[in-house]
Amino acid sequence: MPEIRMEADIKEKVVIGSDVFVPLIKESNLQKRIMEMGKEISENYKGKVPVFIGVLNGAFLFLSDLIKNVTVDCEIDFFKLSSYGDEKISSGKVKLIKELSCDVSGRDIIIVEDIVDSGLSMKFIEDLIAPHNPASMSVVSLLVKPNSLRYNVKIDYIGFNIPSKFVIGYGLDYAQKYRNLRSIYVLSE
Ligand code: IMP
Ligand code: MG
Repeated sequence: MPEIRMEADIKEKVVIGSDVFVPLIKESNLQKRIMEMGKEISENYKGKVPVFIGVLNGAFLFLSDLIKNVTVDCEIDFFKLSSYGDEKISSGKVKLIKELSCDVSGRDIIIVEDIVDSGLSMKFIEDLIAPHNPASMSVVSLLVKPNSLRYNVKIDYIGFNIPSKFVIGYGLDYAQKYRNLRSIYVLSE
């Protein structure tokens, strides 16, 4: 069996029409940070059974890698939202496409996002969950664009703060594609 090289797939650039994307966060750095985040969450939720709620589609890879690094018993569920359409800028409207299937009342909820940009989607989710009286609610986002935040949302665990530029890969799409890239790429000027 050949040795598995984590970064064998790293591409120097991803060209989409006239747009060129270059590596921003490599797979090995993503995995290292996610391991740390899993450890920190496990410490903070000792003796509890949190429910990780992933926001589809973008957060599916992050959620799966994150919970592999969580050592307390936990459950998972998903919301599905749509806000971007097929564009690189948000439509400014959030639609709920798939409801939760679990009962969040009295539970320790951890919302898992791929990226917080304006914060509109996160605000929308918090407003959906809060009336159901969870025991606690925290937010984990792999990426945050701090200079784009326009809504007052508290993000308890942040993987990486990144510039306010469009990114793809590791779950993040451009017109539904490129989620399967193993690293994160940023649109270069
Ligand atoms: P917000 O509602 O403006 O915070 O945007 C959050 C959602 O928009 C995320 O859950 C992503 O699905 C999407 N999004 C924001 N920035 C990017 C990006 O740079 N690339 C791909 N999707 C993004
Ligand atoms: Mg998302």
